Amino acid sequence: MPLSVREKYDNRIHPYLCPLPCSYRIHCPPCGLAGAVHCVSLFAIYPLRSTVAEVRRSALLHNLSEIRRTAPTAEVMAMVKANAYGHGMIEVAHVIEPAVDFFGVAVMSEGVALRSYGITKPIVVMMPPDIYDAQHFCERDLQLVACSMDILRDFDAEARRFNKVMKAHLYIDTGMRRDGIEPRDAVEFMKECSTLKNVSVIGVCTHFASSDDTDTTFTEKQLEVFNTTLAELAHAGFSFSYVHAGNSGALFRHPRAHFNLIRVGLSLYGIAPASVKESLLQPALTLKTRVNALRRISAGESVSYGRKFVTDRATTIATIPIGYGDGYSRMLTGKAECLLHGKRFPIVGAICMDECMIDAGDEEVKLGDEVVLIGNQASQNISAREIADKLHTIPYEVTSMITSRVPRVVVD
Ligand SMILES: Cc1ncc(COP(=O)(O)O)c(C=O)c1O
Repeated sequence: MPLSVREKYDNRIHPYLCPLPCSYRIHCPPCGLAGAVHCVSLFAIYPLRSTVAEVRRSALLHNLSEIRRTAPTAEVMAMVKANAYGHGMIEVAHVIEPAVDFFGVAVMSEGVALRSYGITKPIVVMMPPDIYDAQHFCERDLQLVACSMDILRDFDAEARRFNKVMKAHLYIDTGMRRDGIEPRDAVEFMKECSTLKNVSVIGVCTHFASSDDTDTTFTEKQLEVFNTTLAELAHAGFSFSYVHAGNSGALFRHPRAHFNLIRVGLSLYGIAPASVKESLLQPALTLKTRVNALRRISAGESVSYGRKFVTDRATTIATIPIGYGDGYSRMLTGKAECLLHGKRFPIVGAICMDECMIDAGDEEVKLGDEVVLIGNQASQNISAREIADKLHTIPYEVTSMITSRVPRVVVD
């Protein structure tokens, strides 16, 4: 029996494909891999697209051990909000659950999703909850930040209905001016909290506005306000199992901010904060695709919408199936490069919603050749920070922009 087209090309186009000629392949929503298919016999996973965001398990685990080495006194809250900064929340959470103490998310629905996919470690929702969220917090054992007495009372009543005690973290605004209570109100707030029978404030926290800045003045000021508030709370008889303030910037630049729990996102994904030059972190993400169309065009021809790019020589144009609909920003038009055959090539013409075009010159390109947009190929690298610099933004945004159409695939 001749091979089907899929069988002929799958191993080349989808390196994650189960090597066995197995006919039991199912779409597997329960495994949480968007756009992926589960091979029942081997539980191997392969994506339904050649455009994938690969997330390297060994890099995540390596970064966690670097984080623990840097903050040996602290437990670790892995910030997996915003789809784990675009890396795939469920995929990442399953890989790192044994190696972390807490998960941190921004909104309740992220906590609910983690629980639905079997995550059992404590989860803190770091944004102030909505009054309508109380039942879900209760049912899924999600921890909340305490910064409004009205909301806490509602949560207390809901927890009573469920015969549960809900866990909360007192959030102090030491200068971010985003969430949390005023430091001067902390003691009174805790006195009121202590009248609630079904809410237990187990932690106290704050968040830094510029811990990755080389000018440390503002972070030190925030830290001082936090320490003074902690002292006032202690003097009033309030103690907490967890004290947390540090994010990735504070992890590397402000050891005094480690306390006994740190909340790390960027460094977990292997991206060092802007001002940290020496870091042993390993980027976990590779955004890659494969050439899906090729043409040789003449000098003077334009490429893509708007005809902004016109060739000055005969050249090979290789089309790749990734565009702004995948989170590869159209604002990279005229600036982006990619890696093909271990070399850098420019992406030319407007980036379309689903595709963009490489000016491959006289390179001998074949359909199916691998193209890396973020990550390593041979000795070359394109970092999320390089792309962020081109877009005048931060790496957080670059990776978080990758849309749900791109399958996240965990590789070793
Ligand atoms: C409240 C809070 N804590 C911790 C973090 C993690 O910060 P980073 O990714 O810089 O480690 C964030 C991220 O924005 C956050 O909003």
